[in-house]
Amino acid sequence: MCDNHTILIEEGVYVRFWVQLPHRSGERLSLLFHTLDDAFVFIAKHRDPTSEYPPLIREYGTYLRRGELVAFPTETVYGLGADATNEEAVRSIFTAKERPLFDPLIVHVAEVAQLAEVVEVLNERTVKLIEHFWPGPLTLVVKKHPSIPAIVTSGGDTVAIRMPDNPLALSLIKESGRPIAAPSANRFGYTSPTTASHVEEQLGSKIAAILDGGACSVGIESTVLSLVSDPPTILRPGKIGPQELFPVIGEVVYASAVKKTVLESPGLLKNHYAPTTPLYLVDDVSLYKDDPSVGVLLFERSRVSFKGPVQYISEREDPGEAASRLYWAMRQLDTLHLRMMVCSLLKEEGIGVAINNRLRKASRKR
Ligand code: TXA
Ligand code: MG
Repeated sequence: MCDNHTILIEEGVYVRFWVQLPHRSGERLSLLFHTLDDAFVFIAKHRDPTSEYPPLIREYGTYLRRGELVAFPTETVYGLGADATNEEAVRSIFTAKERPLFDPLIVHVAEVAQLAEVVEVLNERTVKLIEHFWPGPLTLVVKKHPSIPAIVTSGGDTVAIRMPDNPLALSLIKESGRPIAAPSANRFGYTSPTTASHVEEQLGSKIAAILDGGACSVGIESTVLSLVSDPPTILRPGKIGPQELFPVIGEVVYASAVKKTVLESPGLLKNHYAPTTPLYLVDDVSLYKDDPSVGVLLFERSRVSFKGPVQYISEREDPGEAASRLYWAMRQLDTLHLRMMVCSLLKEEGIGVAINNRLRKASRKR
């Protein structure tokens, strides 16, 4: 490692680990890792990230312009990117993920000016939300511009747009010079990836490149807010909820509270985000303490000693930490070939709403 790196180990229950390096735009880039091992693996592969990132981003930008697929980190989960203006490139996203064509994609931009050829009009409400929350984990569904191919929006006349809050993602999108269509970089229906190695495991052989930016800090997918309805409707809960949105645009409602026929998004299927090992939601996980074939996901420190493997998502009931570790922990347990895993729901408030939404979907039988 060269001299201009500082490694900070964050205080907390987990070894949370930030490698800071000066990014080419001058801003400091923090890389987060779930474990020391993950951080060491990264450092062993990338001896000098500061000088490695700029040429990598140039190269991967070229791949995107050529219509190839590049996975990249965002603050929420890793995305599988393709040029949103290139129909064939977008089609290859669906093929690689084995995703049905009826599930529309989010178009990612690095600058508001890029929206000129993505959305029809930017009305006042949309601009307000962009000013408050972008870059950040809020996706907005608005009327689409004719130049966005139908495959991106599954034939619909609306398009989902987002500016991710991750300097590597922003640099890559800028470098490509295109708006980038990107779903989560996992096989359709499976848990979203929050590290580069998650992407590698499921899609490595099918895509041109993966930009490794460590672990995702938010850890669950963006809030999807439809602005084509009145009041605006949350189609998918995320870190940004009604509490944050209300001061900016007033009332918003959850899709479940409205008539399904009008607003249901085709992609918001009931079973999703699922590990291979069956996940059960239970009131009291300690009932499973004597069964070594049951994996346990915990949100707070427990005195119970479990015979099966345990993954702490948070030891201090910190919902933000729980979100950032949820998919990672599910995947850890999923590699152990257990009979099942169990977990309880969090308090239904703040990001807990989004975590519970993902847990419920992940626990539904296919
Ligand atoms: O955090 C995220 O949003 C991540 C990162 C990579 O940005 N992306 C992501 O994409 O989660 P994906 O494709 O896995 O989920 C996008 C969701 C889908 O449920 C889809 O149905 C919905 O957004 N969606 C996309 N376009 C839509 C539209 N025009 N109308 C309603 N829902 C839409
Ligand atoms: Mg997804």
